[in-house]
Amino acid sequence: MKSIISLATAALIGLSSSTPVPDTTTATPGPYHISGFFASKPHLSSGCHFEFNLTAPSLPGPDPVYCWASVELGFSGATWLGYVYQGLGRCTSDRVAWTFNHPRGAETDRNDAVFNVTVDGVRGTYRVPKEDIYVNLNDERNPFDNDVSYAGPGEFEVGEFPEGE
Ligand SMILES: *[C@@H]1O[C@H](CO)[C@@H](O)[C@H](O)[C@H]1NC(C)=O
Ligand SMILES: *[C@@H]1O[C@H](CO)[C@@H](O)[C@H](O)[C@H]1NC(C)=O
Repeated sequence: MKSIISLATAALIGLSSSTPVPDTTTATPGPYHISGFFASKPHLSSGCHFEFNLTAPSLPGPDPVYCWASVELGFSGATWLGYVYQGLGRCTSDRVAWTFNHPRGAETDRNDAVFNVTVDGVRGTYRVPKEDIYVNLNDERNPFDNDVSYAGPGEFEVGEFPEGE
């Protein structure tokens, strides 16, 4: 009976994937679950602060890994969140790395942002639509007092693992 069950399980796993049956050491480490995602350039500030919590099947629980970064945009009139390059974003676990890139866009045509999270060298990607980034120009005559913040869901999954990486 036991062997029939494990054969059936193996067949099910085989059906759900075109690649060979994974063992636990090579299974995809995602999805990476993000909560409390925060990114904001406050009023009259030229710095953007980021933070979030992360859990992933391959990371020990129950406490999440906490990550944060501060980026200097150099301009309090920025309408973008900036670029957290590799190494600038910090986390409580050194198995985790991340980047966030929201490039400067034209006033009328802003850009999406790309948020990447790497656990043990395996990178997942999440595209933040520009609609989820709130910009307030405040006083239209004052180009230096713009506010920018992430306004999308605080909780989401980074589950897209680009091929060949
Ligand atoms: C991250 O998780 C810790 C522990 O569960 C919690 O205290 C903290 O408020 C969370 N931070 C964010 C940004 O969600
Ligand atoms: C984020 O991941 C995407 C998809 O793999 C990649 O094209 C992009 O270069 C990455 N960004 C950074 C800053 O590494």
